[in-house]
Amino acid sequence: MNDTLIKVISSGKYIPKDIITNQDLEKIVDTNHEWIVSRTGIVERHKVKDELTSDMAYLAAIDAINKANHDINTIDLIIVASITGDQLTPSTANLVQKKLGITHDCMSFDINAACTGFVYGLDIASQMLQSRRYRSALIIGAERLTTVTDYTDRNTCILFGDGAGALIIKPSDDQKDQAFFYNAAKADDLDSLTVVKHIKMDGRKVFLFAVDIMQKSIDKVLNDAKLTIDDIDMIIPHQANIRIIQAVSKSMNIPIDKFLINIESYGNTSAASIPITLDDYFLIDKYKNKKIILVGFGGGFTWGSALLSL
Ligand SMILES: CC(C)(COP(=O)(O)OP(=O)(O)OC[C@H]1O[C@@H](n2cnc3c(N)ncnc32)[C@H](O)[C@@H]1OP(=O)(O)O)[C@@H](O)C(=O)NCCC(=O)NCCS
Repeated sequence: MNDTLIKVISSGKYIPKDIITNQDLEKIVDTNHEWIVSRTGIVERHKVKDELTSDMAYLAAIDAINKANHDINTIDLIIVASITGDQLTPSTANLVQKKLGITHDCMSFDINAACTGFVYGLDIASQMLQSRRYRSALIIGAERLTTVTDYTDRNTCILFGDGAGALIIKPSDDQKDQAFFYNAAKADDLDSLTVVKHIKMDGRKVFLFAVDIMQKSIDKVLNDAKLTIDDIDMIIPHQANIRIIQAVSKSMNIPIDKFLINIESYGNTSAASIPITLDDYFLIDKYKNKKIILVGFGGGFTWGSALLSL
């Protein structure tokens, strides 16, 4: 019997104003708008000016807090998922805690699971909430990928953007709030997607891995919840390439409009992509009180999924 019961309170996001269009990229590498759109679905991505990752994470958190008028005094767990934190220590989560003015006891720490980081963080927070030692948790995915992108490499520089997304959850006693998680890593391909100074990637390998693991991850939480895809209102996938999402849709026979896609506006924002997309979903009122699946994958390789009741 699954006893992970969580109530989703609110979501938020912060997207930097500056935009890098495909036409901008045409001027710096040998590429073109048509190739980028047809191979990735991306039209533009956002770029920080002088915002730090902690600034974006804080602003996404404030957006989530304000949207639900959530009492900041009840937040006693903050997890930031990022591969581009401000510094090694103090953590970006510590910096967010400070920016939020939280002075009461609050556990805050960062995690790194590449693009799967937000789903990992949500799982960790949900399990911790079951202990009832925390009243509400703030989980944030935030990235400044443009600072680690090599703008001489056309294979990668077209893909990545900046932004942050946040979610607030609290423990629940209601069985209808059952949540199911599946998170894992198989560290057998450490070279296909790395960030040492810059992002380096074997795109084709990542693509094949992603299509396969997203299907397994969706199936796993559906099986655990004893539900079928027809019981699910919306799938929120990591936004890495529209063709990955289309391939999953086709191969699993899931209508493409069951996947929320916003890659055209943001590109791949790594750990921020799922919470940013989730926040776009929250803006669609008609979808409230529904069941959703979040599904992600990333370097390591890591992967994960979550089935939530809103
Ligand atoms: C990166 C990616 C878009 C490349 O698309 P693709 O269809 O696999 O393209 P290929 O790598 O096969 O390259 C096809 C051709 O386009 C060229 N090409 C690569 N980037 C290009 C660009 N920006 N503009 C124009 N041509 C480009 C290649 O050099 C290659 O040319 P060649 O056939 O003469 O060698 C795709 O593989 C992808 O999205 N992979 C997954 C990436 C991902 O999800 N990363 C994040 C994980 S969290």
